[in-house]
Amino acid sequence: MDTLYTALMAREETGLCFLCDGAPCTAACPRGVDPARAIRSARLENQSGAALHLPTPLPCHSCADRPCLKACVKARTGRGVAVDAVLKTLASHQVERSAASLEIDFCGVPCENPFFLSSSIVANDYEMIARAFRMGWAGAAFKTIGLFVPDEVSPRFDAIRKETTPFLGFKNIEQISEHTAQENLDAIRRLKAEFPAKVIIASIMGRDEDEWTELARLVTEAGADIIECNFSCPHMAANGLGSDVGQSPELVAAYTRATLRGTARPVLAKMTPNLGQMEPPAIAAMEAGASGIAAINTIKSVMNINLFTFTSGPDVAGRTSVGGYSGKAVKPIALRFIQTMKQNPRLADAPISGMGGIETWRDAAEFLAVGCETVQVTTAVMQYGYRIIEDMTEGMRQYLGTMGMTSVRQIVGRALPHIVPAEELDRKTLCYPRFNRKKCVGCGRCRISCADAGHQAIRAGEDNRPLMEPSKCVGCHLCLTVCPAEAITPGKRVPKPARLHPAGR
Ligand SMILES: Cc1cc2nc3c(=O)[nH]c(=O)nc-3n(C[C@H](O)[C@H](O)[C@H](O)COP(=O)(O)O)c2cc1C
Repeated sequence: MDTLYTALMAREETGLCFLCDGAPCTAACPRGVDPARAIRSARLENQSGAALHLPTPLPCHSCADRPCLKACVKARTGRGVAVDAVLKTLASHQVERSAASLEIDFCGVPCENPFFLSSSIVANDYEMIARAFRMGWAGAAFKTIGLFVPDEVSPRFDAIRKETTPFLGFKNIEQISEHTAQENLDAIRRLKAEFPAKVIIASIMGRDEDEWTELARLVTEAGADIIECNFSCPHMAANGLGSDVGQSPELVAAYTRATLRGTARPVLAKMTPNLGQMEPPAIAAMEAGASGIAAINTIKSVMNINLFTFTSGPDVAGRTSVGGYSGKAVKPIALRFIQTMKQNPRLADAPISGMGGIETWRDAAEFLAVGCETVQVTTAVMQYGYRIIEDMTEGMRQYLGTMGMTSVRQIVGRALPHIVPAEELDRKTLCYPRFNRKKCVGCGRCRISCADAGHQAIRAGEDNRPLMEPSKCVGCHLCLTVCPAEAITPGKRVPKPARLHPAGR
C-alpha cells in the first residue's frame, strides 16, 4: 500500500465495515486484538482513540493466517473489510491519552459530559435510559410526555441512503410517547433514584395552558431536573400542537408561562426549524421566562417516491404524510439556526442544547463551537446504538488534549467570531488550489467539474493529471471538494487579480 493513501484507504475500509454486534473479527483473533472496537472508533472519527484500543506492538504484523479477514461477515456480500491493513494504519498513530474534563453546567445543572439522548424513541422508557446511562450518556431528554396516548402508524420510518452511507437523512412520522403519563412519571422517578448524578430532561406537550401547567407539575414531582417544552414536532395528528406552536411566538410565550406556573425547574423551549428565522419564537420563550433553548427538532419533509407505485416513504398502506427529517443531512441547517440565535444580542446569553445530525464527537464539538453547552442525539443512536457514546467521550477528550485544552467549556462559542455577514467577507484576495502531483492519480474528476460547473481552468496534462490555468481560475475550490484522492489542497491567499474585480470588467 502506497503510504500516500493509507489514511484514505483506512477511511474507506472502515466505511465498508458493517459494525457488527458481537463482531466475528474480534472473536476470531487468537492474539486478543479487538479489531471491531478500533474500526468502530475510526468510523466514528475517533482515530486517536482507535490507536489507543490497539496493543503495541501490533501482533497483526506477524500474523500469517489472518483469521479476522476470514471471519468478516462483510465478505459474504462479495468483499470483506481489509481488517489487517486498517489496523496497521490505525496503530501507526502515536497518541497519548488525554485527561481533559468533559464536565459542564447547563442551566445551572451539572452534567458529567455534554452528551444527552434527545427526546424520541431512543429515550422511551426506564430500561432503555438506564442502559444508556450505564454506557456513559450524561443525561436524557425523555420521549415527549402528554396527557394523551397517540395512535401510531406502521411503518413510521424511512431513510435516504447514498453509496455506502446507510442514513444520510432520516424521516419519521412518530408522535409523542406511546406510554401513559403515569408510566412515564414512574420511569422518571426510578431513573432519578438510581442515577442521581445523571440529568433527566422531561419533554412535555400539552394541548392547552392547563395541560402544560399540569404536566410541568407532574414531571417536577417525579424528579425531572429540566423541563423541555415540545413546541416543535412537525407531524402531530391534530392541529395546534408541536410545530404549529413553535411557529407562533405568541403561543410559545403563553405555553412557556403556563409551564412555569407548574415548576420552578429550568424550562427549555424546543424549537422547530420549520420557519425562516428561529429568533422570534426563541426570544418570546426567553422573555416569557424560559431558562434556555433546545434546537432543532425535525424538518418537514417528503422522501423516496416510488416511481412504480407513486407512493412515498414511509408507505402506510399506500399513503404517507409530511414527516420530520433528521440525521447527518440536517446538521448544517441546525448549526445555522443556532449560530444565528447566538449572534442575536437578545439571545446571546441563552443556554442552548443543540441537536440535528450529531453522530460523532466532531459533530458535537461543532455544535459547542457555535455556542451550545450540551448536545442531544437521536438518529445516530437509531443507526448505531448507544455505544457511540464511547467514541464521543473519548474522541472529545483526545481532541481537547491535542488542542492543549483542559476542559470542554473552552470550545463553547469559539466559531462564532468567524461567522460574519456576507458583506463583511474579504473580497480582495483569492486562494488558488494547490495540486499534489505525487498524490494525483489522474482520474480527471477535477477537470470535469471545473469544465462543467466552474471556469474551465483545468486541462489535461501528462498522464491525465491536471494543469491549471491561473488566468481562468477564480479560486472556487470545486476541484478540491471533488478530488477523490485528496490530492488538492488550498494554496496561499494572494491579492485578487484585476480581471476578477467587478470594476475591472
Ligand atoms: C423517531 C424520532 C422520534 C422523535 N420523537 C420526538 C419527540 O417525541 N419529541 C421531540 O421533542 N423530538 C422528537 N424527535 C426529534 C429529535 O429529538 C431531534 O430533535 C431530531 O431528530 C434531530 O436530532 P438527530 O438528527 O440527532 O435525530 C424525534 C426524532 C425521531 C427521529
